[in-house]
Amino acid sequence: MVALAYGGGLSAQTPPQPPGAPRLTLDTGRQIFEGACIGCHGPGATGQPLSTLGFEPPATFPDFSDCNGSTRERTFDWRATIHEGGPGRGFSEIMPSFADALTLEQIDTVMAYLREQCPDPAWPLGELNLPRALFTEKAFPEDEWVLTTAANTNRDGGVSSAIIYEKRFGVRNQLELVAPFSAVQQGRTWNAGVGDLVAGYKRVLFSSLPAGSIVSAVGEFAVPTGHAERGLGLGVPKVETFAALGQILPRLSFIQFQAGGELPTDPARAPRAAFGRLAFGKSFAGNQGFGRLWTPIVEVLVDREFSPDAHTSWDIAPQFQVSLNRRQHIRVNVGVKHPVRNTDGRSTQVVFYALWDFFDGGLRDGW
Ligand code: HEC
Repeated sequence: MVALAYGGGLSAQTPPQPPGAPRLTLDTGRQIFEGACIGCHGPGATGQPLSTLGFEPPATFPDFSDCNGSTRERTFDWRATIHEGGPGRGFSEIMPSFADALTLEQIDTVMAYLREQCPDPAWPLGELNLPRALFTEKAFPEDEWVLTTAANTNRDGGVSSAIIYEKRFGVRNQLELVAPFSAVQQGRTWNAGVGDLVAGYKRVLFSSLPAGSIVSAVGEFAVPTGHAERGLGLGVPKVETFAALGQILPRLSFIQFQAGGELPTDPARAPRAAFGRLAFGKSFAGNQGFGRLWTPIVEVLVDREFSPDAHTSWDIAPQFQVSLNRRQHIRVNVGVKHPVRNTDGRSTQVVFYALWDFFDGGLRDGW
């Protein structure tokens, strides 16, 4: 096996040994790492220096002691990379497959060793980075571009889109910028233009892998670049604040929850409102757990305006997220948002997004 030629020549089965020689064991993560991985990944999993390697790798080695890079990866993806080899997850073929050399238990043991290389528990772990729903905001801080679009299905033509940019900084923070633009039909004419631009800040308050939970607080400010009369945003400065929770459930299922308030600065032109969103989903991985992720999600959305004659609006939004490429960092989600209460004037919409996690690679990487 190529793997073992580079990896130090050890297989999971203890090879025959001369009498009296110390027995090679592959019981602990460190032993497995030093037996099979250190030749490339280097001492402490920081990556083998080129001088030691003796060949020029086409890809740079990840540094597992760099918390910023390693904590955002999920062991679920690492397991697939180690089992299937680099190409299984859209990485270089230099990273060999250990499907024959290591048992799944040994792979889990060596991954625990890789995790220990970032000893700082303040970094939220990638396991808590749950698939993004169409409406419910994630608690995990991201490096992402998202393009999202919603189109009315009734006669009132309307298409609203947004470009979302999310940039993580520090251990637990994220900046967010949203540029919405819409085209709406008013009578026989269509108005098109920019809505209210939004800037936001997310802060992770709590994250724990044993509990399977992550909680964040978010504050957003919308600047009145839109025009309410033309159907393009509120055109009123608005503060929005909410909490977001992600909770891992068994078997790749999860719940995400978001609740907060919208506080326009001029309640006479735009009423204050409270909202809650709940997403339940479950991922399925193709190729015996090592392939593409498919995630059906259903969301329940509730909105309540604080004006005398306001009703509470309820919507349900079934949807399907799928990763497009092997590295899983480019994904699409498509679903419908269907009003179930307070349905007057609210069309069923078809909603779509495409997202690119740009920390994990370029748009053309990992296919
Ligand atoms: C022959 C050299 C080689 C050996 C041996 C090797 N790796 Fe790798 N590994 C690589 C390279 C190169 C990459 C980076 C590929 C890329 O970025 O395209 C990589 C990537 C990885 C990744 C993905 C990291 C990420 O950022 O998602 C994991 C996990 C990993 N290796 C674990 C292991 C483990 C565990 C072992 C031992 C059981 C091992 N590797 C043995 C070369 C090797």
